[in-house]
Amino acid sequence: MSAPGTHPPAGAGLHDFLRRERERVDAALLRLTDRLAADAAPGLREPIAYALATPGKRLRPTLCVAAWRVARGEPVPGAVYRLACAVEIVHTYSLVHDDLPSMDDDALRRGRATVHTVFGVGRATLAGAALIPAAMRALDAAAAELGLPAERRGRLVAELCRASGALGMVGGQLQDLQSEARPTGAEALESIHRRKTGALLAASLRVGALAAGANEATVAALTVYGEDLGLAFQIVDDVLDVTASAEALGKTAGKDESARKATYPALYGLDGARALAARRVDEALAALHGAGIASPELEALARFVLERRN
Ligand code: IPE
Ligand code: IPE
Ligand code: MG
Ligand code: MG
Ligand code: MG
Repeated sequence: MSAPGTHPPAGAGLHDFLRRERERVDAALLRLTDRLAADAAPGLREPIAYALATPGKRLRPTLCVAAWRVARGEPVPGAVYRLACAVEIVHTYSLVHDDLPSMDDDALRRGRATVHTVFGVGRATLAGAALIPAAMRALDAAAAELGLPAERRGRLVAELCRASGALGMVGGQLQDLQSEARPTGAEALESIHRRKTGALLAASLRVGALAAGANEATVAALTVYGEDLGLAFQIVDDVLDVTASAEALGKTAGKDESARKATYPALYGLDGARALAARRVDEALAALHGAGIASPELEALARFVLERRN
């Protein structure tokens, strides 16, 4: 099931692979942004364009495209990148809202001033909200371009709604806020991280795989991979909040401790948290291997999640 025509992205190869995918996603996102901004009310154009143009790692769309390749290999049609952008648009909205004063109250994101500090809380909140239906429209349009029937397009939209909604990311964000300055056990903490971060990472893979027509066993294995990777990703995010500088992160460091958030380093210490992240990555890879999925890209992305510096 290895993707024909792709090369194992290791070392410098990983760096090149990530950069290439980021550039493709950014190009697709820019075109979508132009269309979206043109349709938006005048007061929303600027904050929407600002939020979508800020430079992120584009991990979720990269996972989405990698999942597509697991089933179909190369070449990847341009519409798959537009499909993947839908996930990035949902992620972008989640960051805009996560940074609001009523949530994490952050002034810095991706090395720039947060949307609400530039455009005000009202416009930032509404721009964030506008990105949710925009993402669903982009997803449906890209799926239509790929020639998917209405039923499959509906399933893709339902996948993204479920992962980002009250049982997924939004639910996790609420649990995250409620855990501030409250004793939070291991089980509750894992549930927060699975929902607020794991759900969207898993959905990124599911959307890519389902659009490619992958069989259910492959979709199931990619889901487990995504959930475990999501958990590892958020544990590393918690670790970096303690160990990295704002300059390296492009966002304020040390925020979790000052907000008295429930985090893995707070519960297990830095080494304990790092070990748990590594274990989750092992489990993510085991899910792929168990299903006979040989994807150098997904292997490399799993390593990247542990090694990343921002
Ligand atoms: C930040 O996500 C929010 C979390 C879920 C930890 P990323 O670290 O993927 O942020 P960007 O998109 O690269 O800025
Ligand atoms: C946010 O988690 C997860 C989201 C759903 C946006 P964090 O609050 O830890 O993310 P950062 O550290 O602000 O990027
Ligand atoms: Mg948060
Ligand atoms: Mg935050
Ligand atoms: Mg964080």
